[in-house]
Amino acid sequence: MKFFIDTANIKQIKEANDLGVLDGVTTNPSLMAKEGIKGKNNIHNHYKSICEIVDGDVSAEVISTDYKGIIKEGEELAALHPRIVVKVPIIKEGIKAIKYFSNKGIKTNCTLVFSPGQALLAAKAGATYVSPFIGRIDDIASDGVKLIEQIVEIYNFYGFNTQVLAASIRHTMHIIQCVEAGADVATCPLDAIMGLLNHPLTDIGLEKFLSDYNKLNKV
Ligand code: G3P
Repeated sequence: MKFFIDTANIKQIKEANDLGVLDGVTTNPSLMAKEGIKGKNNIHNHYKSICEIVDGDVSAEVISTDYKGIIKEGEELAALHPRIVVKVPIIKEGIKAIKYFSNKGIKTNCTLVFSPGQALLAAKAGATYVSPFIGRIDDIASDGVKLIEQIVEIYNFYGFNTQVLAASIRHTMHIIQCVEAGADVATCPLDAIMGLLNHPLTDIGLEKFLSDYNKLNKV
């Protein structure tokens, strides 16, 4: 089970990486815009900086929606660093491009997935990762974690190698639910990862251990 951080914020990526449990990073055009990164050169340099921090896959998303454009953009992104994974939306031209990248040995992350059928196409095309957006499904009063379960079952039944990357995780409990559902990867905001540390009995227990020690070991 791998942990990715879902941000383009260098400080947060460093903080998660310093924990020693980070396996990769996912970004998207909205997350890049949130950091104020604009212009092709700056965007490419930002991806390279992220790749230098983390020892794992870094998803960089294309913004083209036509086959030729996706291929051109994806090849440029893949050439930036060996850790780059080309993130491609689940559209007709995207599926064709994922097949092309797969044949060329370029890693891909098929994004904006909201149904088992879309996930099936991504796997058939040879995507390295598929990204079901669980939080956005919950937002429309449906069950995001259920989608993870369905995709995991389909992939296991047919022996697809595509890894299920649970995305649009909004809180710590989503991480636990995705782990239970058998996701290969959870990409999370930093606060959701840090939330895994929290338990009141840990705080109470630690306070007691330290106060008992201090009673007999006064300085
Ligand atoms: O990177 C894709 C994804 O994680 C988006 O999350 O919170 O914008 O639905 P969110």
